[in-house]
Amino acid sequence: MPSFFFVPHNRSKEELEHFIRKLEQQALETAEERHPIYIKAGLKDAKLVLDVGCGNGAVTKDVCNHTNGMVIAIDDSLDMLEIAKKMLEGVRNVQLCLGDAHALPFKDNTFDIAICNLLLMWVKDPQQVVNEMARVVKKGGKVVASLEPDFGGKIHWPPYPKVDEIFAGRAIKNRGGDPYIGRKLRMLFVRAGLKTEVGLGNLRIWSCEEDKESYMRARDFYWNVLRREGLSEEEIKKWEEHHLKSIEEGIEFNFFPQFYAIGVKE
Ligand SMILES: C[S@@+](CC[C@H](N)C(=O)[O-])C[C@H]1O[C@@H](n2cnc3c(N)ncnc32)[C@H](O)[C@@H]1O
Repeated sequence: MPSFFFVPHNRSKEELEHFIRKLEQQALETAEERHPIYIKAGLKDAKLVLDVGCGNGAVTKDVCNHTNGMVIAIDDSLDMLEIAKKMLEGVRNVQLCLGDAHALPFKDNTFDIAICNLLLMWVKDPQQVVNEMARVVKKGGKVVASLEPDFGGKIHWPPYPKVDEIFAGRAIKNRGGDPYIGRKLRMLFVRAGLKTEVGLGNLRIWSCEEDKESYMRARDFYWNVLRREGLSEEEIKKWEEHHLKSIEEGIEFNFFPQFYAIGVKE
């Protein structure tokens, strides 16, 4: 169950390092969900692809591997582009670019596909970003949001209300994100004038073992989020015992919906 935590642009060096590790883990954990979307969107045959909000480049690398075309990857953070440069060393079909998704520095009708992953939940004006992505794709081209979560749709059992409500959107909202972006994808794409298909990206419920591995790798993140949300060390420890116990018992159930949208510019 990837958790999609984020550190805003004014982060410390330590926060940035955590964030990068988290993005790498997310890229791995969501690969099986993103790859079918790439195939469905026809990424392979696109000649020119725009990856908006490329972050550390881990997902961009996947995008590059799924297309014969050239990928332009854009982000508004120089820090992230520096990391992406290292991540993408040796990848021949990519160019990095600094810019704001709200005002993409490209002419109308330029790309075959404009794609983003886990971007719309963090931008100031997601409608403006989707409009911009639609503007820069060619007629017949596609705009793709490969995964955007919906924290309000999260289902977790057995319950632990004090912590569940934090992970069901509160933490993301307090960090400036939109926890309900998943359910808004159709609206954003339709209002951008795109012929739109939306779907559920994660079609499989993780096993307790997978959830445990993911939790242990991201344990620092969970603890830091709970600290930030005002829980004491004692309270977090108690919650962790409850969480791990239900995993060991094999009864834990976690569903965290992530949606995709593919829009065609007619
Ligand atoms: C959660 S990360 C996702 C990165 C990558 N797409 C992935 O899935 O691993 C969001 C990225 O979007 C970038 N971003 C946020 N707002 C942006 C904007 N207005 N224009 C361009 N990039 C932006 C951030 O700097 C960050 O690198």
